[in-house]
Amino acid sequence: MSTAIVTGCAGFIGSHLTDRLLADGREVVGIDSFEDYYPRAMKEDNIAQARDHESFELIEADLLSLAETGRLRELMDDAEVVYHLAAQPGVRASWGQEFHIYERNNIMVTQALLETANHVEVPAFVYASSSSVYGDTDILPMREDAVCVPYSPYGVTKLTAEHLCRLYTRNFGFHTASLRFFTVYGPRQRPDMAFRRFIDKALAGEPIVVYGDGEQTRDFTYVTDIVDGIIAAAAAPAGMVANLAGGSRVSLVDVIDTLADFMGVAIRVDRQPRQAGDVRDTWASIEVAQKVLNYGPEVGLAEGLAAEVAWLRERRFG
Ligand SMILES: NC(=O)c1ccc[n+]([C@@H]2O[C@H](COP(=O)([O-])OP(=O)(O)OC[C@H]3O[C@@H](n4cnc5c(N)ncnc54)[C@H](O)[C@@H]3O)[C@@H](O)[C@H]2O)c1
Repeated sequence: MSTAIVTGCAGFIGSHLTDRLLADGREVVGIDSFEDYYPRAMKEDNIAQARDHESFELIEADLLSLAETGRLRELMDDAEVVYHLAAQPGVRASWGQEFHIYERNNIMVTQALLETANHVEVPAFVYASSSSVYGDTDILPMREDAVCVPYSPYGVTKLTAEHLCRLYTRNFGFHTASLRFFTVYGPRQRPDMAFRRFIDKALAGEPIVVYGDGEQTRDFTYVTDIVDGIIAAAAAPAGMVANLAGGSRVSLVDVIDTLADFMGVAIRVDRQPRQAGDVRDTWASIEVAQKVLNYGPEVGLAEGLAAEVAWLRERRFG
């Protein structure tokens, strides 16, 4: 049976995608270097269920090293699709000395994967892009044909990698699809992300740090909806770029109110200055994904938050 390759399989979204592919009866080769951006133990938990599955193979390795030794080529020989989710995430950490990590893990790695996948003619390559490519714009909702002017170094690297995908499609007819994810949440969410930080602090009875006035809005997307869109994109027309979002736009203060009601706790807020790279609003048009991928987000914010709270309660209190 041919194989799906998932890069970043031990991460938040990659582990959900891996579990879904295995549940759908697919063979999966997962590649992850367990970068130390957040604790390894969390990634071990993410991938624990997949590790027990007979159709799953975990390759713990750095993708660029795999490309350099030729091992990546061997792994891709039998692949029907590459889902490329590995990256250095995080807007705020992408300034200063750390930028070289973003350049390496987001741009260089994507180029090496594209080069190899094109060479061995993998039938489909799905790239995890980001709403951060749009930058700090007041042209809302964000549409795929907008001019992209990123507002953070992270956004620059995600857009650059997206351009690389487009180049391989245009020059070689290689089958790529780029999906611009809008703030993804749910169980296993990364510890640096807002909902995860909010819920962790609320459970600990500690104040929540909010950067800026809290009126900034985000289009939040539940992780299983993102996974639906990722899987559908393997069969999309070559070169497709599509937003994947929850389809609703909520301010951080509203999220905090919803959480306080739902968790039955009073939440204290510690306001801090707006951070460099943080955009004011994100809000996606999902017309392209609806039309081309038959995409339709199914999990609303209340239901999705409840699932994340339940997961974090279980982690904290057992
Ligand atoms: N979480 C979101 O809201 C969001 C939004 C937009 C885009 N994205 C994109 O989705 C993808 C997944 O994000 P996530 O939130 O699951 O992040 P994550 O950090 O949880 O997962 C990424 C994984 O990639 C691995 N990795 C990084 N560099 C690697 C390398 N050189 N070799 C092998 N493995 C490597 C890391 O170890 C990590 O486990 C990323 O490409 C990210 O840019 C995420």
